[in-house]
Amino acid sequence: MVDSDIAKRPADPAVAKKPVDPDIAEKLVKELRRPDGSDKLRPVHAIGIGATGYFEASAVARDYCVAEHFQGGRVPVKVRFSNGSGCAEPHDGWSDVRGMATRFELANGSTTDLIAMTLPEFFAPTPEGFLEFAKEAKPVQMPREPPWRKFLDLLHLTLPQRNPYPGEKISPDPGAIRFADKYDYAKLAVSQAALIGAPVSYVRAEYHAVHTFVIVAPDGARRWVRFSWAPVFGVLNTDPEKTPKDQYLQQELRDRLAKEPARFSLMMTIGEAGDDFNDCSRPWPPHRVRIMMGMLTVDTVPEDQDANSERLAFNPMHLTPGVEASDDPVLHVRGKSYDISSAWRMKPDGCPFSTEVFAPPPAVPAWIDKLDKFVVGLPKQKWFQFLSTYVVVPFWAWRYPTAPLPGGPRTAVQPSENVQRMMNLIMPLKDKSAVGRANAAFAIANNVDEIFAGLDNVGTVHFARFLLISDYICMISVYDGDFTNYIRDFIATIGSVFDEIMKVVEGGDALSPTTENIEAFIDWVHDHDLFQAPDFPTDLFTLNKESGKTPRPPGPPELRSLGREFVLQLHANPNISLGGGYRGYPGVSVADVRRKFGVGW
Ligand code: HEM
Repeated sequence: MVDSDIAKRPADPAVAKKPVDPDIAEKLVKELRRPDGSDKLRPVHAIGIGATGYFEASAVARDYCVAEHFQGGRVPVKVRFSNGSGCAEPHDGWSDVRGMATRFELANGSTTDLIAMTLPEFFAPTPEGFLEFAKEAKPVQMPREPPWRKFLDLLHLTLPQRNPYPGEKISPDPGAIRFADKYDYAKLAVSQAALIGAPVSYVRAEYHAVHTFVIVAPDGARRWVRFSWAPVFGVLNTDPEKTPKDQYLQQELRDRLAKEPARFSLMMTIGEAGDDFNDCSRPWPPHRVRIMMGMLTVDTVPEDQDANSERLAFNPMHLTPGVEASDDPVLHVRGKSYDISSAWRMKPDGCPFSTEVFAPPPAVPAWIDKLDKFVVGLPKQKWFQFLSTYVVVPFWAWRYPTAPLPGGPRTAVQPSENVQRMMNLIMPLKDKSAVGRANAAFAIANNVDEIFAGLDNVGTVHFARFLLISDYICMISVYDGDFTNYIRDFIATIGSVFDEIMKVVEGGDALSPTTENIEAFIDWVHDHDLFQAPDFPTDLFTLNKESGKTPRPPGPPELRSLGREFVLQLHANPNISLGGGYRGYPGVSVADVRRKFGVGW
């Protein structure tokens, strides 16, 4: 099973089957409005800044999509960057989702919008689910977790809750976490939103359009795709340990653009069989093919922010021929909600909601503050680390037995999962002295010709290398195709090298010669290949459940226990691979090369 299989798990029946309410778009707008918002501002993404620039499609974009803005040449754009909250006061330094809404101004006088945010997926797969989320996550006065409770959190191997920011009167976080505890589909987005942080600049964040769209190619081919804006300057957040500043993002953008433009690559990920096209709460596996569709240049912050930001009304369903909506029900309801919201906020008397004034939370006595800092700092103290290692972790390992999850890639039917797979084979040395390590080094050095001849003949290997790390000899490789066939090919071509290695590793004698112990050798390799942690952390819950060897209390796991799950897996399994590897798609060059050769993706 691979991460994409987890992404394919059936939607939560509690929300999937509910009938569609005809008034849901309006209910959502009402429910989203925060009591500390303003009736003249957007109910979410209230604080923002407008900018202008242009988009230039890449050379390959027109092969994929007939839409006008993908045909080449400069297309003028209007962009609005925003803070996700509906609070009417700017709090740029607070951890929050950010938005980037882009309007492409097409030659025939029409326009099309692409709305994106820094979360790669959404909180719910259906409008009904999101309405329930919006109700549950209504901002409330943010309770401050007392120091004793934080101490208990540490003993439970869960992260203590953050303190309210200075001046933070209400927060949706407590309700959002409660919701994620109830519904597994919300766990990923809520956990990512909780840890998202604050960007140093609006142009140093990656923005995702989240939904699937259908694009139409010149030959009529239709592809299910997701779009993201990747900042050319890279992603960078502020230091979460420093006191957050309330206002810096807008001035930073003005100052930056006065000196030089900012750029974003428009990356388009192509979905494959088995990916969920209509559920925006589920990410696709990160290894999907991505195409660089063009470059956005943002160069000006116009003086007239009323016309270029406040009075703009973006809409994710504002599409153009060549780009179509998928059947994602959330996308369709958004179309109506945005119309309702913009019509209300643009009325001379504002939208029909009152706003409330909230008193700041009571001041905290200095001694509680001190105690709080002491408790939060405990994980850095040597004695507390000792207590965690020898008492807390063993206690939880006894309380919640955790089986090591198996190594190697999880099987997949999708073709893109079968390229550039990783093998991280960690083999314990028999003789752990310097002499033993030297013997291992010679086993490799004396077989360089065999290794090269083998690699050339196996043919599916991108690269392979051997490492000696402490008492282990490791073989790290990247290969294409099926794991078992790959090992078989290896035995056939460089079995002699493995026989040399087997002489120096624990348990190796029983497997030598490998050509006569093929099945046992494959099993041994699998056992010594590292477990590849899921690319989406909350999938660890699913992997543990599916392994059937890690008993847990019935019902959905609490989101805050995710940290503990990782600690317990690492306790059982000290060496793991962090994710399934990361592939870059320097789209212009890769796509261009393939185009030149007349090879499609
Ligand atoms: C059912 C789900 C959703 C509802 C009901 C909803 C509702 C709204 C509303 C009412 C606005 C203000 C519109 C206006 O007054 O002009 C808004 C703005 C925004 N939403 Fe959503 N939203 C939803 C999902 C999403 C998703 C999945 C994304 C991710 C791309 C997103 C990103 C944004 C952004 C970036 C803005 C600010 C747009 C601007 O700058 O004008 N929303 N949303």
